[in-house]
Amino acid sequence: MGKIAKSISLTMMVVMVSMLMGDHYHLHGVKAEITCEKVTYWLFPCISYGVLGGTVSPACCDGVKTSLAACKTVEDLRKKCQCVKDGAALIPALNYTRVNDIPALCGTTCPYQVSPDVDCSKVTFT
Ligand SMILES: *[C@@H]1O[C@H](CO)[C@@H](O)[C@H](O)[C@H]1NC(C)=O
Repeated sequence: MGKIAKSISLTMMVVMVSMLMGDHYHLHGVKAEITCEKVTYWLFPCISYGVLGGTVSPACCDGVKTSLAACKTVEDLRKKCQCVKDGAALIPALNYTRVNDIPALCGTTCPYQVSPDVDCSKVTFT
C-alpha cells in the first residue's frame, strides 16, 4: 500500500474510531471531565506518528499536553488510559514503541505506558 492510500485509510479509521467512541460514551452517559471523544480529538494528530513515524507534529504535542493537563484525578487518568487503549486497539499497524516515545519527544511525561494489555484500573500518578 502506498503512503497516500495508507493515510486515507488511516483517516477513515480515525473517523470510525471517533464514532465508536462517541456511541460508547453516550450509551453509558458517564459524566466526567475526561471523555473518549475529547481524548480522541486531542490525540488524533498523534496517530500518523504512531503508525507511520516521521516527526511528531506540534498539534500532537499540544494534544498530549492538553490531555495530560485535563487529568486532575486518578479517575480521569484511568478513564483516559482506557480511551487511549481502546482507541489504539482499533488502529492497525500502530507501533506502541513510537506511541510511548511521544510524551518524551514533546518534553512531557505520561504516568503510564500505552500497551494492548495495560491495566488501566491500576494506573496512578507517579
Ligand atoms: C516501532 O518503532 C520503533 C521506534 O521507531 C522501531 O525501532 C521499531 O522497528 C518499530 N517496530 C515495528 C514493528 O515497526
